[in-house]
Amino acid sequence: MIYARIAGTGSFLPGEPVSNDDLVARGIDTSDQWIVERTGIRSRHLASADMSASDLAHAASLRALDAAGVAPDDIDLIIVATSTPDCIFPSTAALLQSKLGIRNGAAAFDVQAVCSGFVYGLTIAEKFIRSGSHKRALVVGAEVFSRILDWSDRGTCVLFGDGAGAVVLEAAETPGVLASALHADGSHHPILCVPGGVAAGQIVGDPFLRMDGQAVFKFAVKVLGDVALEVLDQAGMSVEAVDWLIPHQANVRIIQATAKRLGVPMEKVIATVDRHGNTSAASIPLALDLAVRDGRIRAGQRLIVEGVGGGFTWGAVLLQF
Ligand code: ACO
Repeated sequence: MIYARIAGTGSFLPGEPVSNDDLVARGIDTSDQWIVERTGIRSRHLASADMSASDLAHAASLRALDAAGVAPDDIDLIIVATSTPDCIFPSTAALLQSKLGIRNGAAAFDVQAVCSGFVYGLTIAEKFIRSGSHKRALVVGAEVFSRILDWSDRGTCVLFGDGAGAVVLEAAETPGVLASALHADGSHHPILCVPGGVAAGQIVGDPFLRMDGQAVFKFAVKVLGDVALEVLDQAGMSVEAVDWLIPHQANVRIIQATAKRLGVPMEKVIATVDRHGNTSAASIPLALDLAVRDGRIRAGQRLIVEGVGGGFTWGAVLLQF
């Protein structure tokens, strides 16, 4: 039997933290108090104009490869989850492959599932590895959400940040992925979307992120609870068997409400939204890498990573680390 396990993690945040007060100083009509009370966000990182998603992905990937002790050419599958790709095509994964100097013909493609993208990518990579077709995957979440924010819309621009996180997932004799579940319901697309597109050399429609915050909040809490229970049920485990919960980092109130619904104490929840803001597909691997590097997550522990995002999409993976 072939299984798949995480062999190393890495992450990258561009530049210095940008505090809520820094946003006020930049002319946004908001306050530290409003943002902290409503979201728990205190700061975020914003990429400079010359940095793209593939640059962030590259920096995070080098750290993940180093942690796994493997060379770039040992990778035979590259999946990048992003909603802010460098360009329409080629994929950010192909550009990342080039930046890493991988010349072995590894498969490379992007996954577009917004904030659930990393969970989608991890689930896909695990199935490739378990099928025997591939041996070692680089799964990355990388975003420059600052590029699709309307900086005159204070209801959305204060929520997001830029960054990347990566894992190396490789074939193993013991299971590293104990259960996984992916879902989508496209009928909810109007409550969170970037409606615009490109045609005939022009941006057609609205190129910025639009959101009905309260509708998103309710939807996120419901599906994050449901999908965590679904993977536990698949594995025949109770929530007490899980050492760490890493939900998508959108808002500390969503995280707290999800943990409460599942009966998981906040001491067992990894939360980085206060320092990173919502980095969409990057939020889960960023939080994972932080907790691995600070020693909270250790070999042999069990964790649930779970995401929800525009589409709507949602999903969870139960991992044996
Ligand atoms: N600073 C100050 N005031 C603000 C700001 C701001 N940044 N943004 C909105 N306000 C004002 C509004 O104008 C409104 O003022 P009014 O009462 O005078 O009209 C007031 O604050 C309340 O606005 P609401 O939108 O009703 O505020 P709410 O309590 O719903 O909080 C929030 C908004 C934080 C967005 C909340 O709905 C939320 O957290 N939703 C979840 C959305 C989310 O996390 N999305 C992330 C992407 S989705 C994902 O990753 C799954």
